[in-house]
Amino acid sequence: MTQTTDKDRVLIFDTTLRDGEQSPGATMTHAEKLEIAGLLDEMGVDIIEAGFPIASEGDFKAVSEIAANARNSVICGLARANIGDIDRCWEAVRNAARPRIHTFIGTSPLHRAIPNLTQDEMADRIHETVTHARNLCDNVQWSPMDATRTEWDYLKRVVEIAIKAGASTINIPDTVGYTAPAESADLIKRLIAEVPGADEVIFATHCHNDLGMATANSLAAVAGGARQIECTINGLGERAGNTALEEVVMALKVRYDIMPWRTGIDTSKIMNISRRVATVSGFAVQFNKAIVGKNAFAHESGIHQDGMLKNPENFEIMRPEDVGLTESNLVMGKHSGRAALRDKLEQLGFEVGDNQLKDLFVRFKELADRKKEVFDDDIVALMRAGEDPENDHLQIVSMKVVCGTGGPAEATIEMEIDGKDVTATAHGDGPVDASFKAIRELFPNAAQLQLYQVHAVTAGTDAQATVSVRLEEDGMISTGQSANTDTVVASAKAYVNALNRLITRREKSAPGSDVREISYKDVS
Ligand code: KIV
Ligand code: ZN
Repeated sequence: MTQTTDKDRVLIFDTTLRDGEQSPGATMTHAEKLEIAGLLDEMGVDIIEAGFPIASEGDFKAVSEIAANARNSVICGLARANIGDIDRCWEAVRNAARPRIHTFIGTSPLHRAIPNLTQDEMADRIHETVTHARNLCDNVQWSPMDATRTEWDYLKRVVEIAIKAGASTINIPDTVGYTAPAESADLIKRLIAEVPGADEVIFATHCHNDLGMATANSLAAVAGGARQIECTINGLGERAGNTALEEVVMALKVRYDIMPWRTGIDTSKIMNISRRVATVSGFAVQFNKAIVGKNAFAHESGIHQDGMLKNPENFEIMRPEDVGLTESNLVMGKHSGRAALRDKLEQLGFEVGDNQLKDLFVRFKELADRKKEVFDDDIVALMRAGEDPENDHLQIVSMKVVCGTGGPAEATIEMEIDGKDVTATAHGDGPVDASFKAIRELFPNAAQLQLYQVHAVTAGTDAQATVSVRLEEDGMISTGQSANTDTVVASAKAYVNALNRLITRREKSAPGSDVREISYKDVS
């Protein structure tokens, strides 16, 4: 077995709950954040950036609770370079067994212009804020935001100031995804070689994916001497996203021969957490995404089958099991019982209470009646579709849609809205459009449809469709999902799910107010 030393160890810093959640529409509920943090901790993530405590009461509560529950991971909160942010961050993370404060300021010429600070004024601010953070917490990370577009001499100067003020991790963000692998490696290498005190701290790399090079840039930075990679599950994040955790971890595992650094991640947990993040963020994983995409291991069947049978290594550089992917087995039929369903859910990484199981079982039976074969992915889709505890205000009772080549589609929808039964009929350009119009007639709202996406969960014309809907109203974004063998039903339910979540968000942002008054906007 290969011997490893501590110098071989690369820390994994996951920022799905901060940088990932910042991406428009990826907002997670409090319970979802806690669940994802638990999964990250369990899979061996070294540092979890749990949120930005000053940003909102919700962020503060989530970071505090994640800190209190963490078992192994360091829990980190983000703070801008001011005393108020840092104090609030400390208040949230101090409950953790291993807390960290992460403070940052934009150091490039463009970013210095935002607070209108000269180089000297910013240098003083960095000294003051890192010193303050260090007086509160012995684990401080500092980031010069937009480092890759900061003048070299100034970058060296501010990194030295942060180290002298007590930062133990220096993160070098490529905030706008501008760097390239050779430059990324060189930047870290030169900082380590030229900044006094650099050998006493850990250098981190934080790459965005605007040019599709985030993973390559992160790995190059490690080759240059970085020992912490900042990343998110599925690469979730603003614009083109961040470095994907699963990509850097698996690349280091599979190509240890040329990248001899190891992480502490249990890779068999990757698939499960990827699915959960896709569900709770509403950002579906593209089919051909490396490692976690639905087709990432699809060569197992199809044209490569013969070669695979002779020797899996002909076409496989890693095994599906390495990332926790069990083959999509035929699970159960309509005669399967509740215990078997609970068992299967546990295998797939879901824990369900008795009430949730009861509801799921009813929907499983309905599906098994309609669909010949029920696969693991079907069960996951059922789970996703029915797990929103907040869907109280609006419910679809029944719907009937007429469509075809003869004229506009017609949808008649019966809904229960806060206990009241109401029905409406609307016409539209196709069955989905007609259904959404009928729902809007019953529940008028000004929410703009930002995204409507349909995926078939499994093969075959009787496959379940999972539909994602993203809505925006007054800057508030909510996503809804549903799965059904009937694409139109799944679409209507996903829309209603998104509306319910929007109502919940309204409730949270304006506690005590009449939600209906806020949500029932006049759209005429
Ligand atoms: O991309 C970035 O620069 C960041 C900083 C806050 C570290 O996310
Ligand atoms: Zn970032």
